[in-house]
Amino acid sequence: MRRAVTTLGAAGTGALLYGSLIERNAFTLRTFDVPVLAPDAAPLRVLHVSDLHITASQHRKHAWIRALADTKPDLVINTGDTLSAANAIPAVLRALEPLTAFPAVFVPGNNDYYAPRFRMPTKYFRQPTHRDHGAPLPWPQLATALVRQGWLELTHVRTVLKVAGQRVALAGTDDPHLRRARYDSIAGPAETGAVVRIGVTHSPEPFLLRRFANDGYDLVVAGHTHGGQVRLPFGPAIVTNCGIERSRARWLHQWDDRMYFHICAGLGTNPFTPVRFACRPEATLLTLLPRS
Ligand SMILES: [Fe+2]
Repeated sequence: MRRAVTTLGAAGTGALLYGSLIERNAFTLRTFDVPVLAPDAAPLRVLHVSDLHITASQHRKHAWIRALADTKPDLVINTGDTLSAANAIPAVLRALEPLTAFPAVFVPGNNDYYAPRFRMPTKYFRQPTHRDHGAPLPWPQLATALVRQGWLELTHVRTVLKVAGQRVALAGTDDPHLRRARYDSIAGPAETGAVVRIGVTHSPEPFLLRRFANDGYDLVVAGHTHGGQVRLPFGPAIVTNCGIERSRARWLHQWDDRMYFHICAGLGTNPFTPVRFACRPEATLLTLLPRS
């Protein structure tokens, strides 16, 4: 018995060290093909970044984000949780600046409004509520600076952008985790004269996915879950921190066979739990293709 406990303890310590020192920094670019375009449209490449959780000192992560511009996407979408410390606005702007060479849009996440706070590891399995947060962050200042840098804010905005010569309809919400999403303000049938209709939100809450699908959107992109951040190897996420099921905590899925949704597992971690296990930090290049 004692030997089993010792072995289990050693394995746990090893996994913790691996997750905090190695996997947390193993930044990965994922790719998915998504058949959502009008039949005669040309393919579009969408770079989806999320949950960057940038602090001032993460120089390796800043450089990796800057290098994502080398993928030369047609459109960049950032689904929030960009900021992780009040003094990190200059670092965020430096990291994201090369991505403004392309049409680029964003929405906020819960951790853009409030700093994360320490949670006892024993509470890991309890879903945090919308009141579970730390001190306010200077999100309004960062949002204004991003817009000045060339980003388009999609918080409760519907718009049509010309992307690689094609019309792309976009609609975004404020953060649903903090109960700030007001879908009614963007509700209504999605633009029909576009090659694709994309919904953008931070947290993939089923009530929002359902409303985007009912309005005729082809694809919703979201983040927030960190893919579970700590997963069982080859198994599902243990928690999602939102209403989506654990089996669909990351990557590409379909909603009722009529809409796709992509959840980016994100690049960062809560600074108080700087561990990722069986869930590498990621950004994603989505290649949108004509529906067959
Ligand atoms: Fe996050």
